[in-house]
Amino acid sequence: CGIVAYVGLRPAAPLVFHALGLLEYRGYDSAGIAVLTPDGEIETEKTVGGVVALTSLLVRADLQTSGTAIGHTRWATHGAVTEVNAHPLSDCHGAVSIAHNGVIANADVLRRELAARGHRLVGEVDSEVIAHLVEEFVEEGSSIAVALTSATARLEGSWAIVAMDARTGTVAATAQGSPLIVSTTPEGTFVASDITAISDRVDAYQVLRSSDVVEIGRGGATWWDGGARSAGPSSSPVRWRATAEHGGRFDDHMGNEIDEQPAVAARVLDAFAGGIADGSLWRSLGLAGFDRIHRVVVLGCGTSLHAGIAIGRVFSDLGHLPVTALVASEASSFVPEPHTLVIAISQSGETADILRALDALSFPDRTLLALTNNPYSSLAREADAVIDCLAGVEIGVAATKTFVAQVMTGVAVALSGLCGSARVDRVDARAALEALTETPLRLDAALRGWSDSIPLLTEEFADASGFLFLGRGSGVVYAAEGALKLKELTYRWAEHQPAGELKHGPLALVENGTPVLAVDVGDRRLDINIAEVLARGGRVVRIAGVGPDPVGDLRPAPPWGPLEAVVPLQLFARSLAIRLDRNVDKPRNLAKSVTVD
Ligand code: G6P
Repeated sequence: CGIVAYVGLRPAAPLVFHALGLLEYRGYDSAGIAVLTPDGEIETEKTVGGVVALTSLLVRADLQTSGTAIGHTRWATHGAVTEVNAHPLSDCHGAVSIAHNGVIANADVLRRELAARGHRLVGEVDSEVIAHLVEEFVEEGSSIAVALTSATARLEGSWAIVAMDARTGTVAATAQGSPLIVSTTPEGTFVASDITAISDRVDAYQVLRSSDVVEIGRGGATWWDGGARSAGPSSSPVRWRATAEHGGRFDDHMGNEIDEQPAVAARVLDAFAGGIADGSLWRSLGLAGFDRIHRVVVLGCGTSLHAGIAIGRVFSDLGHLPVTALVASEASSFVPEPHTLVIAISQSGETADILRALDALSFPDRTLLALTNNPYSSLAREADAVIDCLAGVEIGVAATKTFVAQVMTGVAVALSGLCGSARVDRVDARAALEALTETPLRLDAALRGWSDSIPLLTEEFADASGFLFLGRGSGVVYAAEGALKLKELTYRWAEHQPAGELKHGPLALVENGTPVLAVDVGDRRLDINIAEVLARGGRVVRIAGVGPDPVGDLRPAPPWGPLEAVVPLQLFARSLAIRLDRNVDKPRNLAKSVTVD
């Protein structure tokens, strides 16, 4: 979910509306804006669906002068996706309006208590109790900041909250376990759940600590730390603009983002390849010497985890280091080891599972490298070293160019470390660097090579209810990424397996016409597995080289696998989704980055 608030001299509603649009990657189930009217009342508009539908308050003449508004974009956790459950949420009398990110663990208890005291709670969301608790303290005469502090003392769980007070037109904000930032500019003060929302308006920002409460009025921000007036947390500059690169030959962002991949890979090479052979990229990150690392942990969720697994193979295959791939939400199962390099991969840098995992992975002698597309994200702030993946803003919820950028960047860092190490075979390292350098061309060739056959495959499989994706070795993770793309975009069942596992169970799924997409990295045992599928009537699509006809292009994959194989898998998932009339940029039930556990 995403939060924005603004108090200042400019019309607040359009500013909040614009910022909410930039936060939709955090959820687009429903959205809402609450604006303070000149009469000191709160007007709220909510919608099920996108921010773009929030137009009525924007055009209201009497609100053009209002300089106070809060807004929210939701990814449902507790409570159905309805207008009532959308934020901002109000108390019974419209005295306050709040927006909340996080989860209130004791909401049921508080809900019963509030109902017993005469409050009428109308929705199902845990956040609603916050509005009523704040209202109680405001009614007793507390300022909005004190009321919010008193209310949060009753909460268990995690939160980032903005609360707007109808009486005074001020907004208070506080956070615990969920990020919130504040930026004071000459035109007014912004609050946002992350920098993406406001990076086009501000040059510096402050990150709320759990002890901070801030109250924002026309005169600026007033801070308290543990109840005492304070100057607030120190300010960090931001030189980053989360504005999207628009344009391309398709109407949807995903199609254009797939198209951009060769250029993105080339950009990463331009930035980092010069620092590989001499090890300077590794050193520039301030990381410990490569030979001091005893283990590498790659940490991520979804597509970013897949990128991590591909990157991890460089450390294991060429560096002979043990590598653990950790699903971020399961990181607590990791047994700490000294001299561990943790590489946390998250395009947004705001995924809650990742941020929580950092607690589980905080042990002595650990180095944390963040690989992110947002160097000003919460993850970047936590890390010992940060590398920007340089993908540019990705709008399509299904990750495409960020995956390519993550693999390219992570491999560049790994190779740079290896090149500075005594225990690495120079010939292998040089061959790997050459393969990395060829990647933009191979991605481009794959885009062109598959363009004619994807529409044919789409027609052939339009009615298939399930899909199998197979791979061996470094191809397995690309099979996993292909299955993930297909699931999220088409809402059809898809499973991936290391091809050798097929005969141990999944082969039972194969019948006449079952689509099986096999990522071929030159391990000839795959041919046996393909024969097993064909013998049962399955329909096999082999992904090898840069086109559907692999003749003359089969070559051993580099340690991170055949990155270009992701292109036909993305193209196929997108094409089938369009054929099935899905919204390829905003698949149902998903958010680009999920900011709750
Ligand atoms: C969500 C998205 C996935 C994404 C994952 C990790 O679940 O739907 O596509 O891969 O989050 O996001 P991150 O921002 O951490 O890379």
